[in-house]
Formats: sequence, structure tokens, C-alpha cells
Amino acid sequence: MELEKSMQHVCVVGLNWGDEGKGKIVDVLATDVDAVVRYQGGANAGHTVYIGDVRHVLHHLPMGVLHQGILAVLGNGMVLEPLKLLEEVNSIPEEAVQRIRISDRAHVVLPYHCAVEKLHEERAERPIGTTLRGIGPAYQAKYGRIGIRMGDIMEPGFIEDVLPKRLAEHSEMLGVAGEGIDEAVRICTQLRDRLSQQVTDTRRLLQRLDSEGKKLLFEGAQGCMLDIDFGTYPFVTSSSPSFLGVGPGTGFSPRKIEHVVGVTKAYCTRVGEGPFPSEIHGEEADALRKAGGEFGTTTGRPRRVGWLDIPALCFAAELNDLDSFALTKADVLDGWETIPVVTGYRLDGELLDKFPDSLTDVQGLEPVIEQWPGWGKVDAQSMQPFIERLHQATGIPVSILSTGKRRDEVCIFEPFKAEGELA
Ligand code: IMP
Repeated sequence: MELEKSMQHVCVVGLNWGDEGKGKIVDVLATDVDAVVRYQGGANAGHTVYIGDVRHVLHHLPMGVLHQGILAVLGNGMVLEPLKLLEEVNSIPEEAVQRIRISDRAHVVLPYHCAVEKLHEERAERPIGTTLRGIGPAYQAKYGRIGIRMGDIMEPGFIEDVLPKRLAEHSEMLGVAGEGIDEAVRICTQLRDRLSQQVTDTRRLLQRLDSEGKKLLFEGAQGCMLDIDFGTYPFVTSSSPSFLGVGPGTGFSPRKIEHVVGVTKAYCTRVGEGPFPSEIHGEEADALRKAGGEFGTTTGRPRRVGWLDIPALCFAAELNDLDSFALTKADVLDGWETIPVVTGYRLDGELLDKFPDSLTDVQGLEPVIEQWPGWGKVDAQSMQPFIERLHQATGIPVSILSTGKRRDEVCIFEPFKAEGELA
């Protein structure tokens, strides 16, 4: 599979509430790039890919790390949990570890972040249903200008002399005085000992790769409906999974990225609390959840399920300046004569065709459902009527169709070219 010669850089983003199958799409596109770059989030993400029948799950590392010869870059916009990162690093071949580059400006998630989050979620009148990976508090520390960065812990003496004092101060301010300081010192030391060679100025690295004509693939975690600014706030994550997050999360100009691929399932899921207008319940939901294996990669939680939501997808397409869709998990709906799709909503008797801006409105929506053409067994031909309908409804073409779990179960259209025939 080859990217068009004119297309140097591509970004893959999730269009729903995460878990769209981005890992597989990144893995497919990574066969023809020089570096894969994560720009936000941390161990809250869980990317799954099947190579042959072996399941690989990554939380921090971009999918490309499993391809020979590709750099795997963890951008400055990420928040890294030392133990989880070390676990992942130790689960891949040493050759691949040597290809990891970590921004010296990426922030570190520390035990007191997880403790604060647990307290907040337990006490909140309106819990968010987070992954409890300390993501929110780590970003709070970053924007509160008290965060600890990868570059700090690589400084000689920082962990021993400075870190304990800083953490004593921070944890007290947040009501968990003294929480996990010894643990933080221990895990940061392990991180420094294992990965000091990988920590660098990744902004500079990306500039250099770009100027040498190398191809970069940017990989969003979560989905844009969880975007801190444009998602269903406050039921969102604490970073910008949308394409808009690439700039601040890497220091690389988004103007240089020629193509944005948005990943969506043929239906929808959401984990955690918050509005989900196309959600279904009861036996129908249980059957879809089971058929799609919709249980969290990171937390094992059952995912909420619902129908493909066209107004939400149009909003996501606009937000991400989208060029094409990668459609995933259509195989879960194999054999359905028709596919229920939400094409609008009713709010207080009024018909809406746009995803509402106000959270209060989102909660009161009644979905309008149309039946779209189904397919027998998913492939490029049998899916054509559905794909055309999706194109008509959103103005966005499908460039990649995933037809199963494995890496090789995929159909590729323009502008991505398969070698020879369509895969
Ligand atoms: P946090 O990112 O752990 O703070 O969680 C905030 C919200 O984002 C919760 O609803 C989580 O379930 C959701 N979330 C975070 N990461 C993912 C992901 O990778 N997939 C799906 N949902 C996620």
C-alpha cells in the first residue's frame, strides 16, 4: 500500500467517542510512512491491532511502532504514565524500543494524579466516568504550570533533589498530602534508567523529517466528540483528540498535513457518562455489544452502543476539516437487510438536522431513524450502496473500508493506493 506521492503527511482521527478502530487504520497506513506521531492523551487510550491472529494492545505507543524502520513519536501534548509506558515498552522487541522518540516536553502522570481523580469521581455529584488513569489531573497540573515534564526527570539530580519537594507541595494543594511521593521517585527513576536515550526535542525532529521529505502519520487517540473544547463538555477527555490538537500537541504546523482521515464505525459506541443521542438499550443493544465485542480495551467496561449518527458525523467532519472516512466494523452488521442510521433529531417537536451546541439540548434529543441499505458479507462491492449514501449525506468519501479484525482485512480506495488491485 502506497500513499500518493504528493501526500507527504496524513492525520488519522476518531470521529465518534473513541474506540472507532483507529489503531487498525494507523497500522494499515503505517506501511508507507517514516514516523507515526501521537499528539495527545496518554494511557487512557487503548489501541488494538491483530497481526495474524495475535492481539496487540498499546496505550501510549503509536501503532506504527510495530512496523520495522518507523520512528514512533510521543509528542509534547501527551501525558505519560511511567509504569504503563514501561510495561508497553517491555512488551515489544528491543529493536522497536530503539525507534521510540519521546518529547522532553511531554508531561508525566504521577500517582497523586490518579489519587485526586479517584477522589473527585467518587465525590462528584456528576461523575464523568473517566478511565481513572490520572489524565485530567495531569493536564490540570500542566495548565496550572506545576506539571513535571519528561525533560525534568532526565536532568541529573532532579528526581532525587527536586521531585519530592515539588510533589509534597502539589499533593497538599490538592487535598491528598504526601500521596505516592516515594512511589513517584521509584517509577520516575525506572523511567529515566530505561528511556533516557529516547527523550528528545521531538518538535525539532519532526521539522527535520519534514525537510528531508520524510512521511509523517499523525495519530489521534480517543474521538473528537470527547474533545475538551468541542466535545460534549464536561463529559470529555482533557485534551484535543481532533485534528486541531496536532499543532499544540507536536509543534508541527497542521498546514503541512495534506489529508485528514476520520475513522467511524458503521454504528456508534461511547464509554463513560454523557450525552449519546443515537444510543439504544435493552436486548437490541446487548446483541450489538456482543456482536461487536464492545468492551473497553483499557478498563474492560461494557460500551454503550447506538446507531451511526449523521448530524454528529457532519459536525465531526467540519471540526476536523475532514478529507475522507475510514469505515470500520461494518462486518459486525453483516447480513442485516437494512441498517438503522440517525439522520436528524426532534427537539420539543421541532426537526433538527445539526448536532446541537448546547449540552442541555443534546440531552433532550429524540433521534430520527432512516433505514439504509444493508449488505450480505462486507466487501467493497456489497457495501457500495451504503457508502454512496454516506457520501451523499455528509459530502465526504470513504477512502478505507475495514472488513475484519486482521491487518489484511481492508479495502483501500483513492487517494490511498493499494499495490496492484484493491486489497
Ligand atoms: P479520561 O480521558 O480518562 O479523563 O476520561 C474522560 C472520558 O473519556 C470518559 O468518558 C472516558 O470513558 C473517555 N475516554 C477516555 N479515553 C478513551 C478511549 O480511548 N476510548 C473511549 N473513551 C475514552
